[in-house]
Amino acid sequence: MQAQEVRTRLRSALAETTRRLGEAGVPSPSVDARALIAHAAGTEKPLVLLDELPEAFAEQLEHLTARRALREPLQLILGRAPFRRLMLDVRPGVFIPRPETERAVDLMREHVEGSVTEVVDLCSGSGALGAAVLDELPRSRVLSVEVDPVAADLTAHNLERAGPARGRVLEADLLGEIPELAVVAPVDAVLSNPPYIPPEAVPRDAEVLAHDPHRALFGGGQDGLEVPRAVIAWAHRLLRPGGVLIMEHADVQGTAAREAAAGRGGFDLLRTVPDLTGRDRFLVARRAPGEPTSGSERLSR
Ligand SMILES: C[S@@+](CC[C@H](N)C(=O)[O-])C[C@H]1O[C@@H](n2cnc3c(N)ncnc32)[C@H](O)[C@@H]1O
Repeated sequence: MQAQEVRTRLRSALAETTRRLGEAGVPSPSVDARALIAHAAGTEKPLVLLDELPEAFAEQLEHLTARRALREPLQLILGRAPFRRLMLDVRPGVFIPRPETERAVDLMREHVEGSVTEVVDLCSGSGALGAAVLDELPRSRVLSVEVDPVAADLTAHNLERAGPARGRVLEADLLGEIPELAVVAPVDAVLSNPPYIPPEAVPRDAEVLAHDPHRALFGGGQDGLEVPRAVIAWAHRLLRPGGVLIMEHADVQGTAAREAAAGRGGFDLLRTVPDLTGRDRFLVARRAPGEPTSGSERLSR
């Protein structure tokens, strides 16, 4: 195939795929069309640099486009999602990491007093937060906790890719007692993007409704904060003095999250931090000196 012919085929594939995705209500049809075309062409290169296409290109692109037009998330179709410096593997049935969660790692680094070595990620899903910590802090060690077995397995996989032998996963329910978690206190930071949506709120995007698991979205209780309250209680038990909890929440839950942490006591700094669009999205809670934490072991393996 001539380079000119390749360019013509790519141009018409881009126009046609963008049109079909737009008609299906995909919010960013041309960006997604480019990603699907690159995937069908088996390349990471910009499309303008391609001078040949695989034999099965058209058939493969048709298959990918049909899936995306049915509003399957792009990340599941490609099998990966970007998160900070990493490209994480994703799997069906596991919450897809979102860009807004990335800020939690910066907030941790800004607020912990002293160095960060031992980190716990509660409700880890794909393992995104823990994997980013392992990647960016080469001396760190991470313990992730996740109730869903498929997600726990994916966490283990992504942690191992990001920081071989420095990550560990507990498959456990934070709403109950977890002896293996209690003994890792004291730690420097607890990160969490837990489920927090209240029962009556229904996510709008077709992708979220059909593909993110229910347990990853709805936080439990009247206000959606049952699991987030358990996260705060665990952070209180696990953090050393000067260590911080960074927890994501919905934009309307800033006050309730701060009150939950204040009610627990033992924190000397409580802040609500907005995301890049100015909406309240993170609780920062720093552990006060004084009360000892409960465990005695470090995250030794
Ligand atoms: C919103 S997802 C976030 C995943 C990941 N932290 C991220 O930011 O991409 C919440 C995760 O919490 C897990 N989860 C829900 N309830 C839990 C519980 N009681 N104990 C432990 N994990 C829980 C869900 O299975 C899901 O993977």
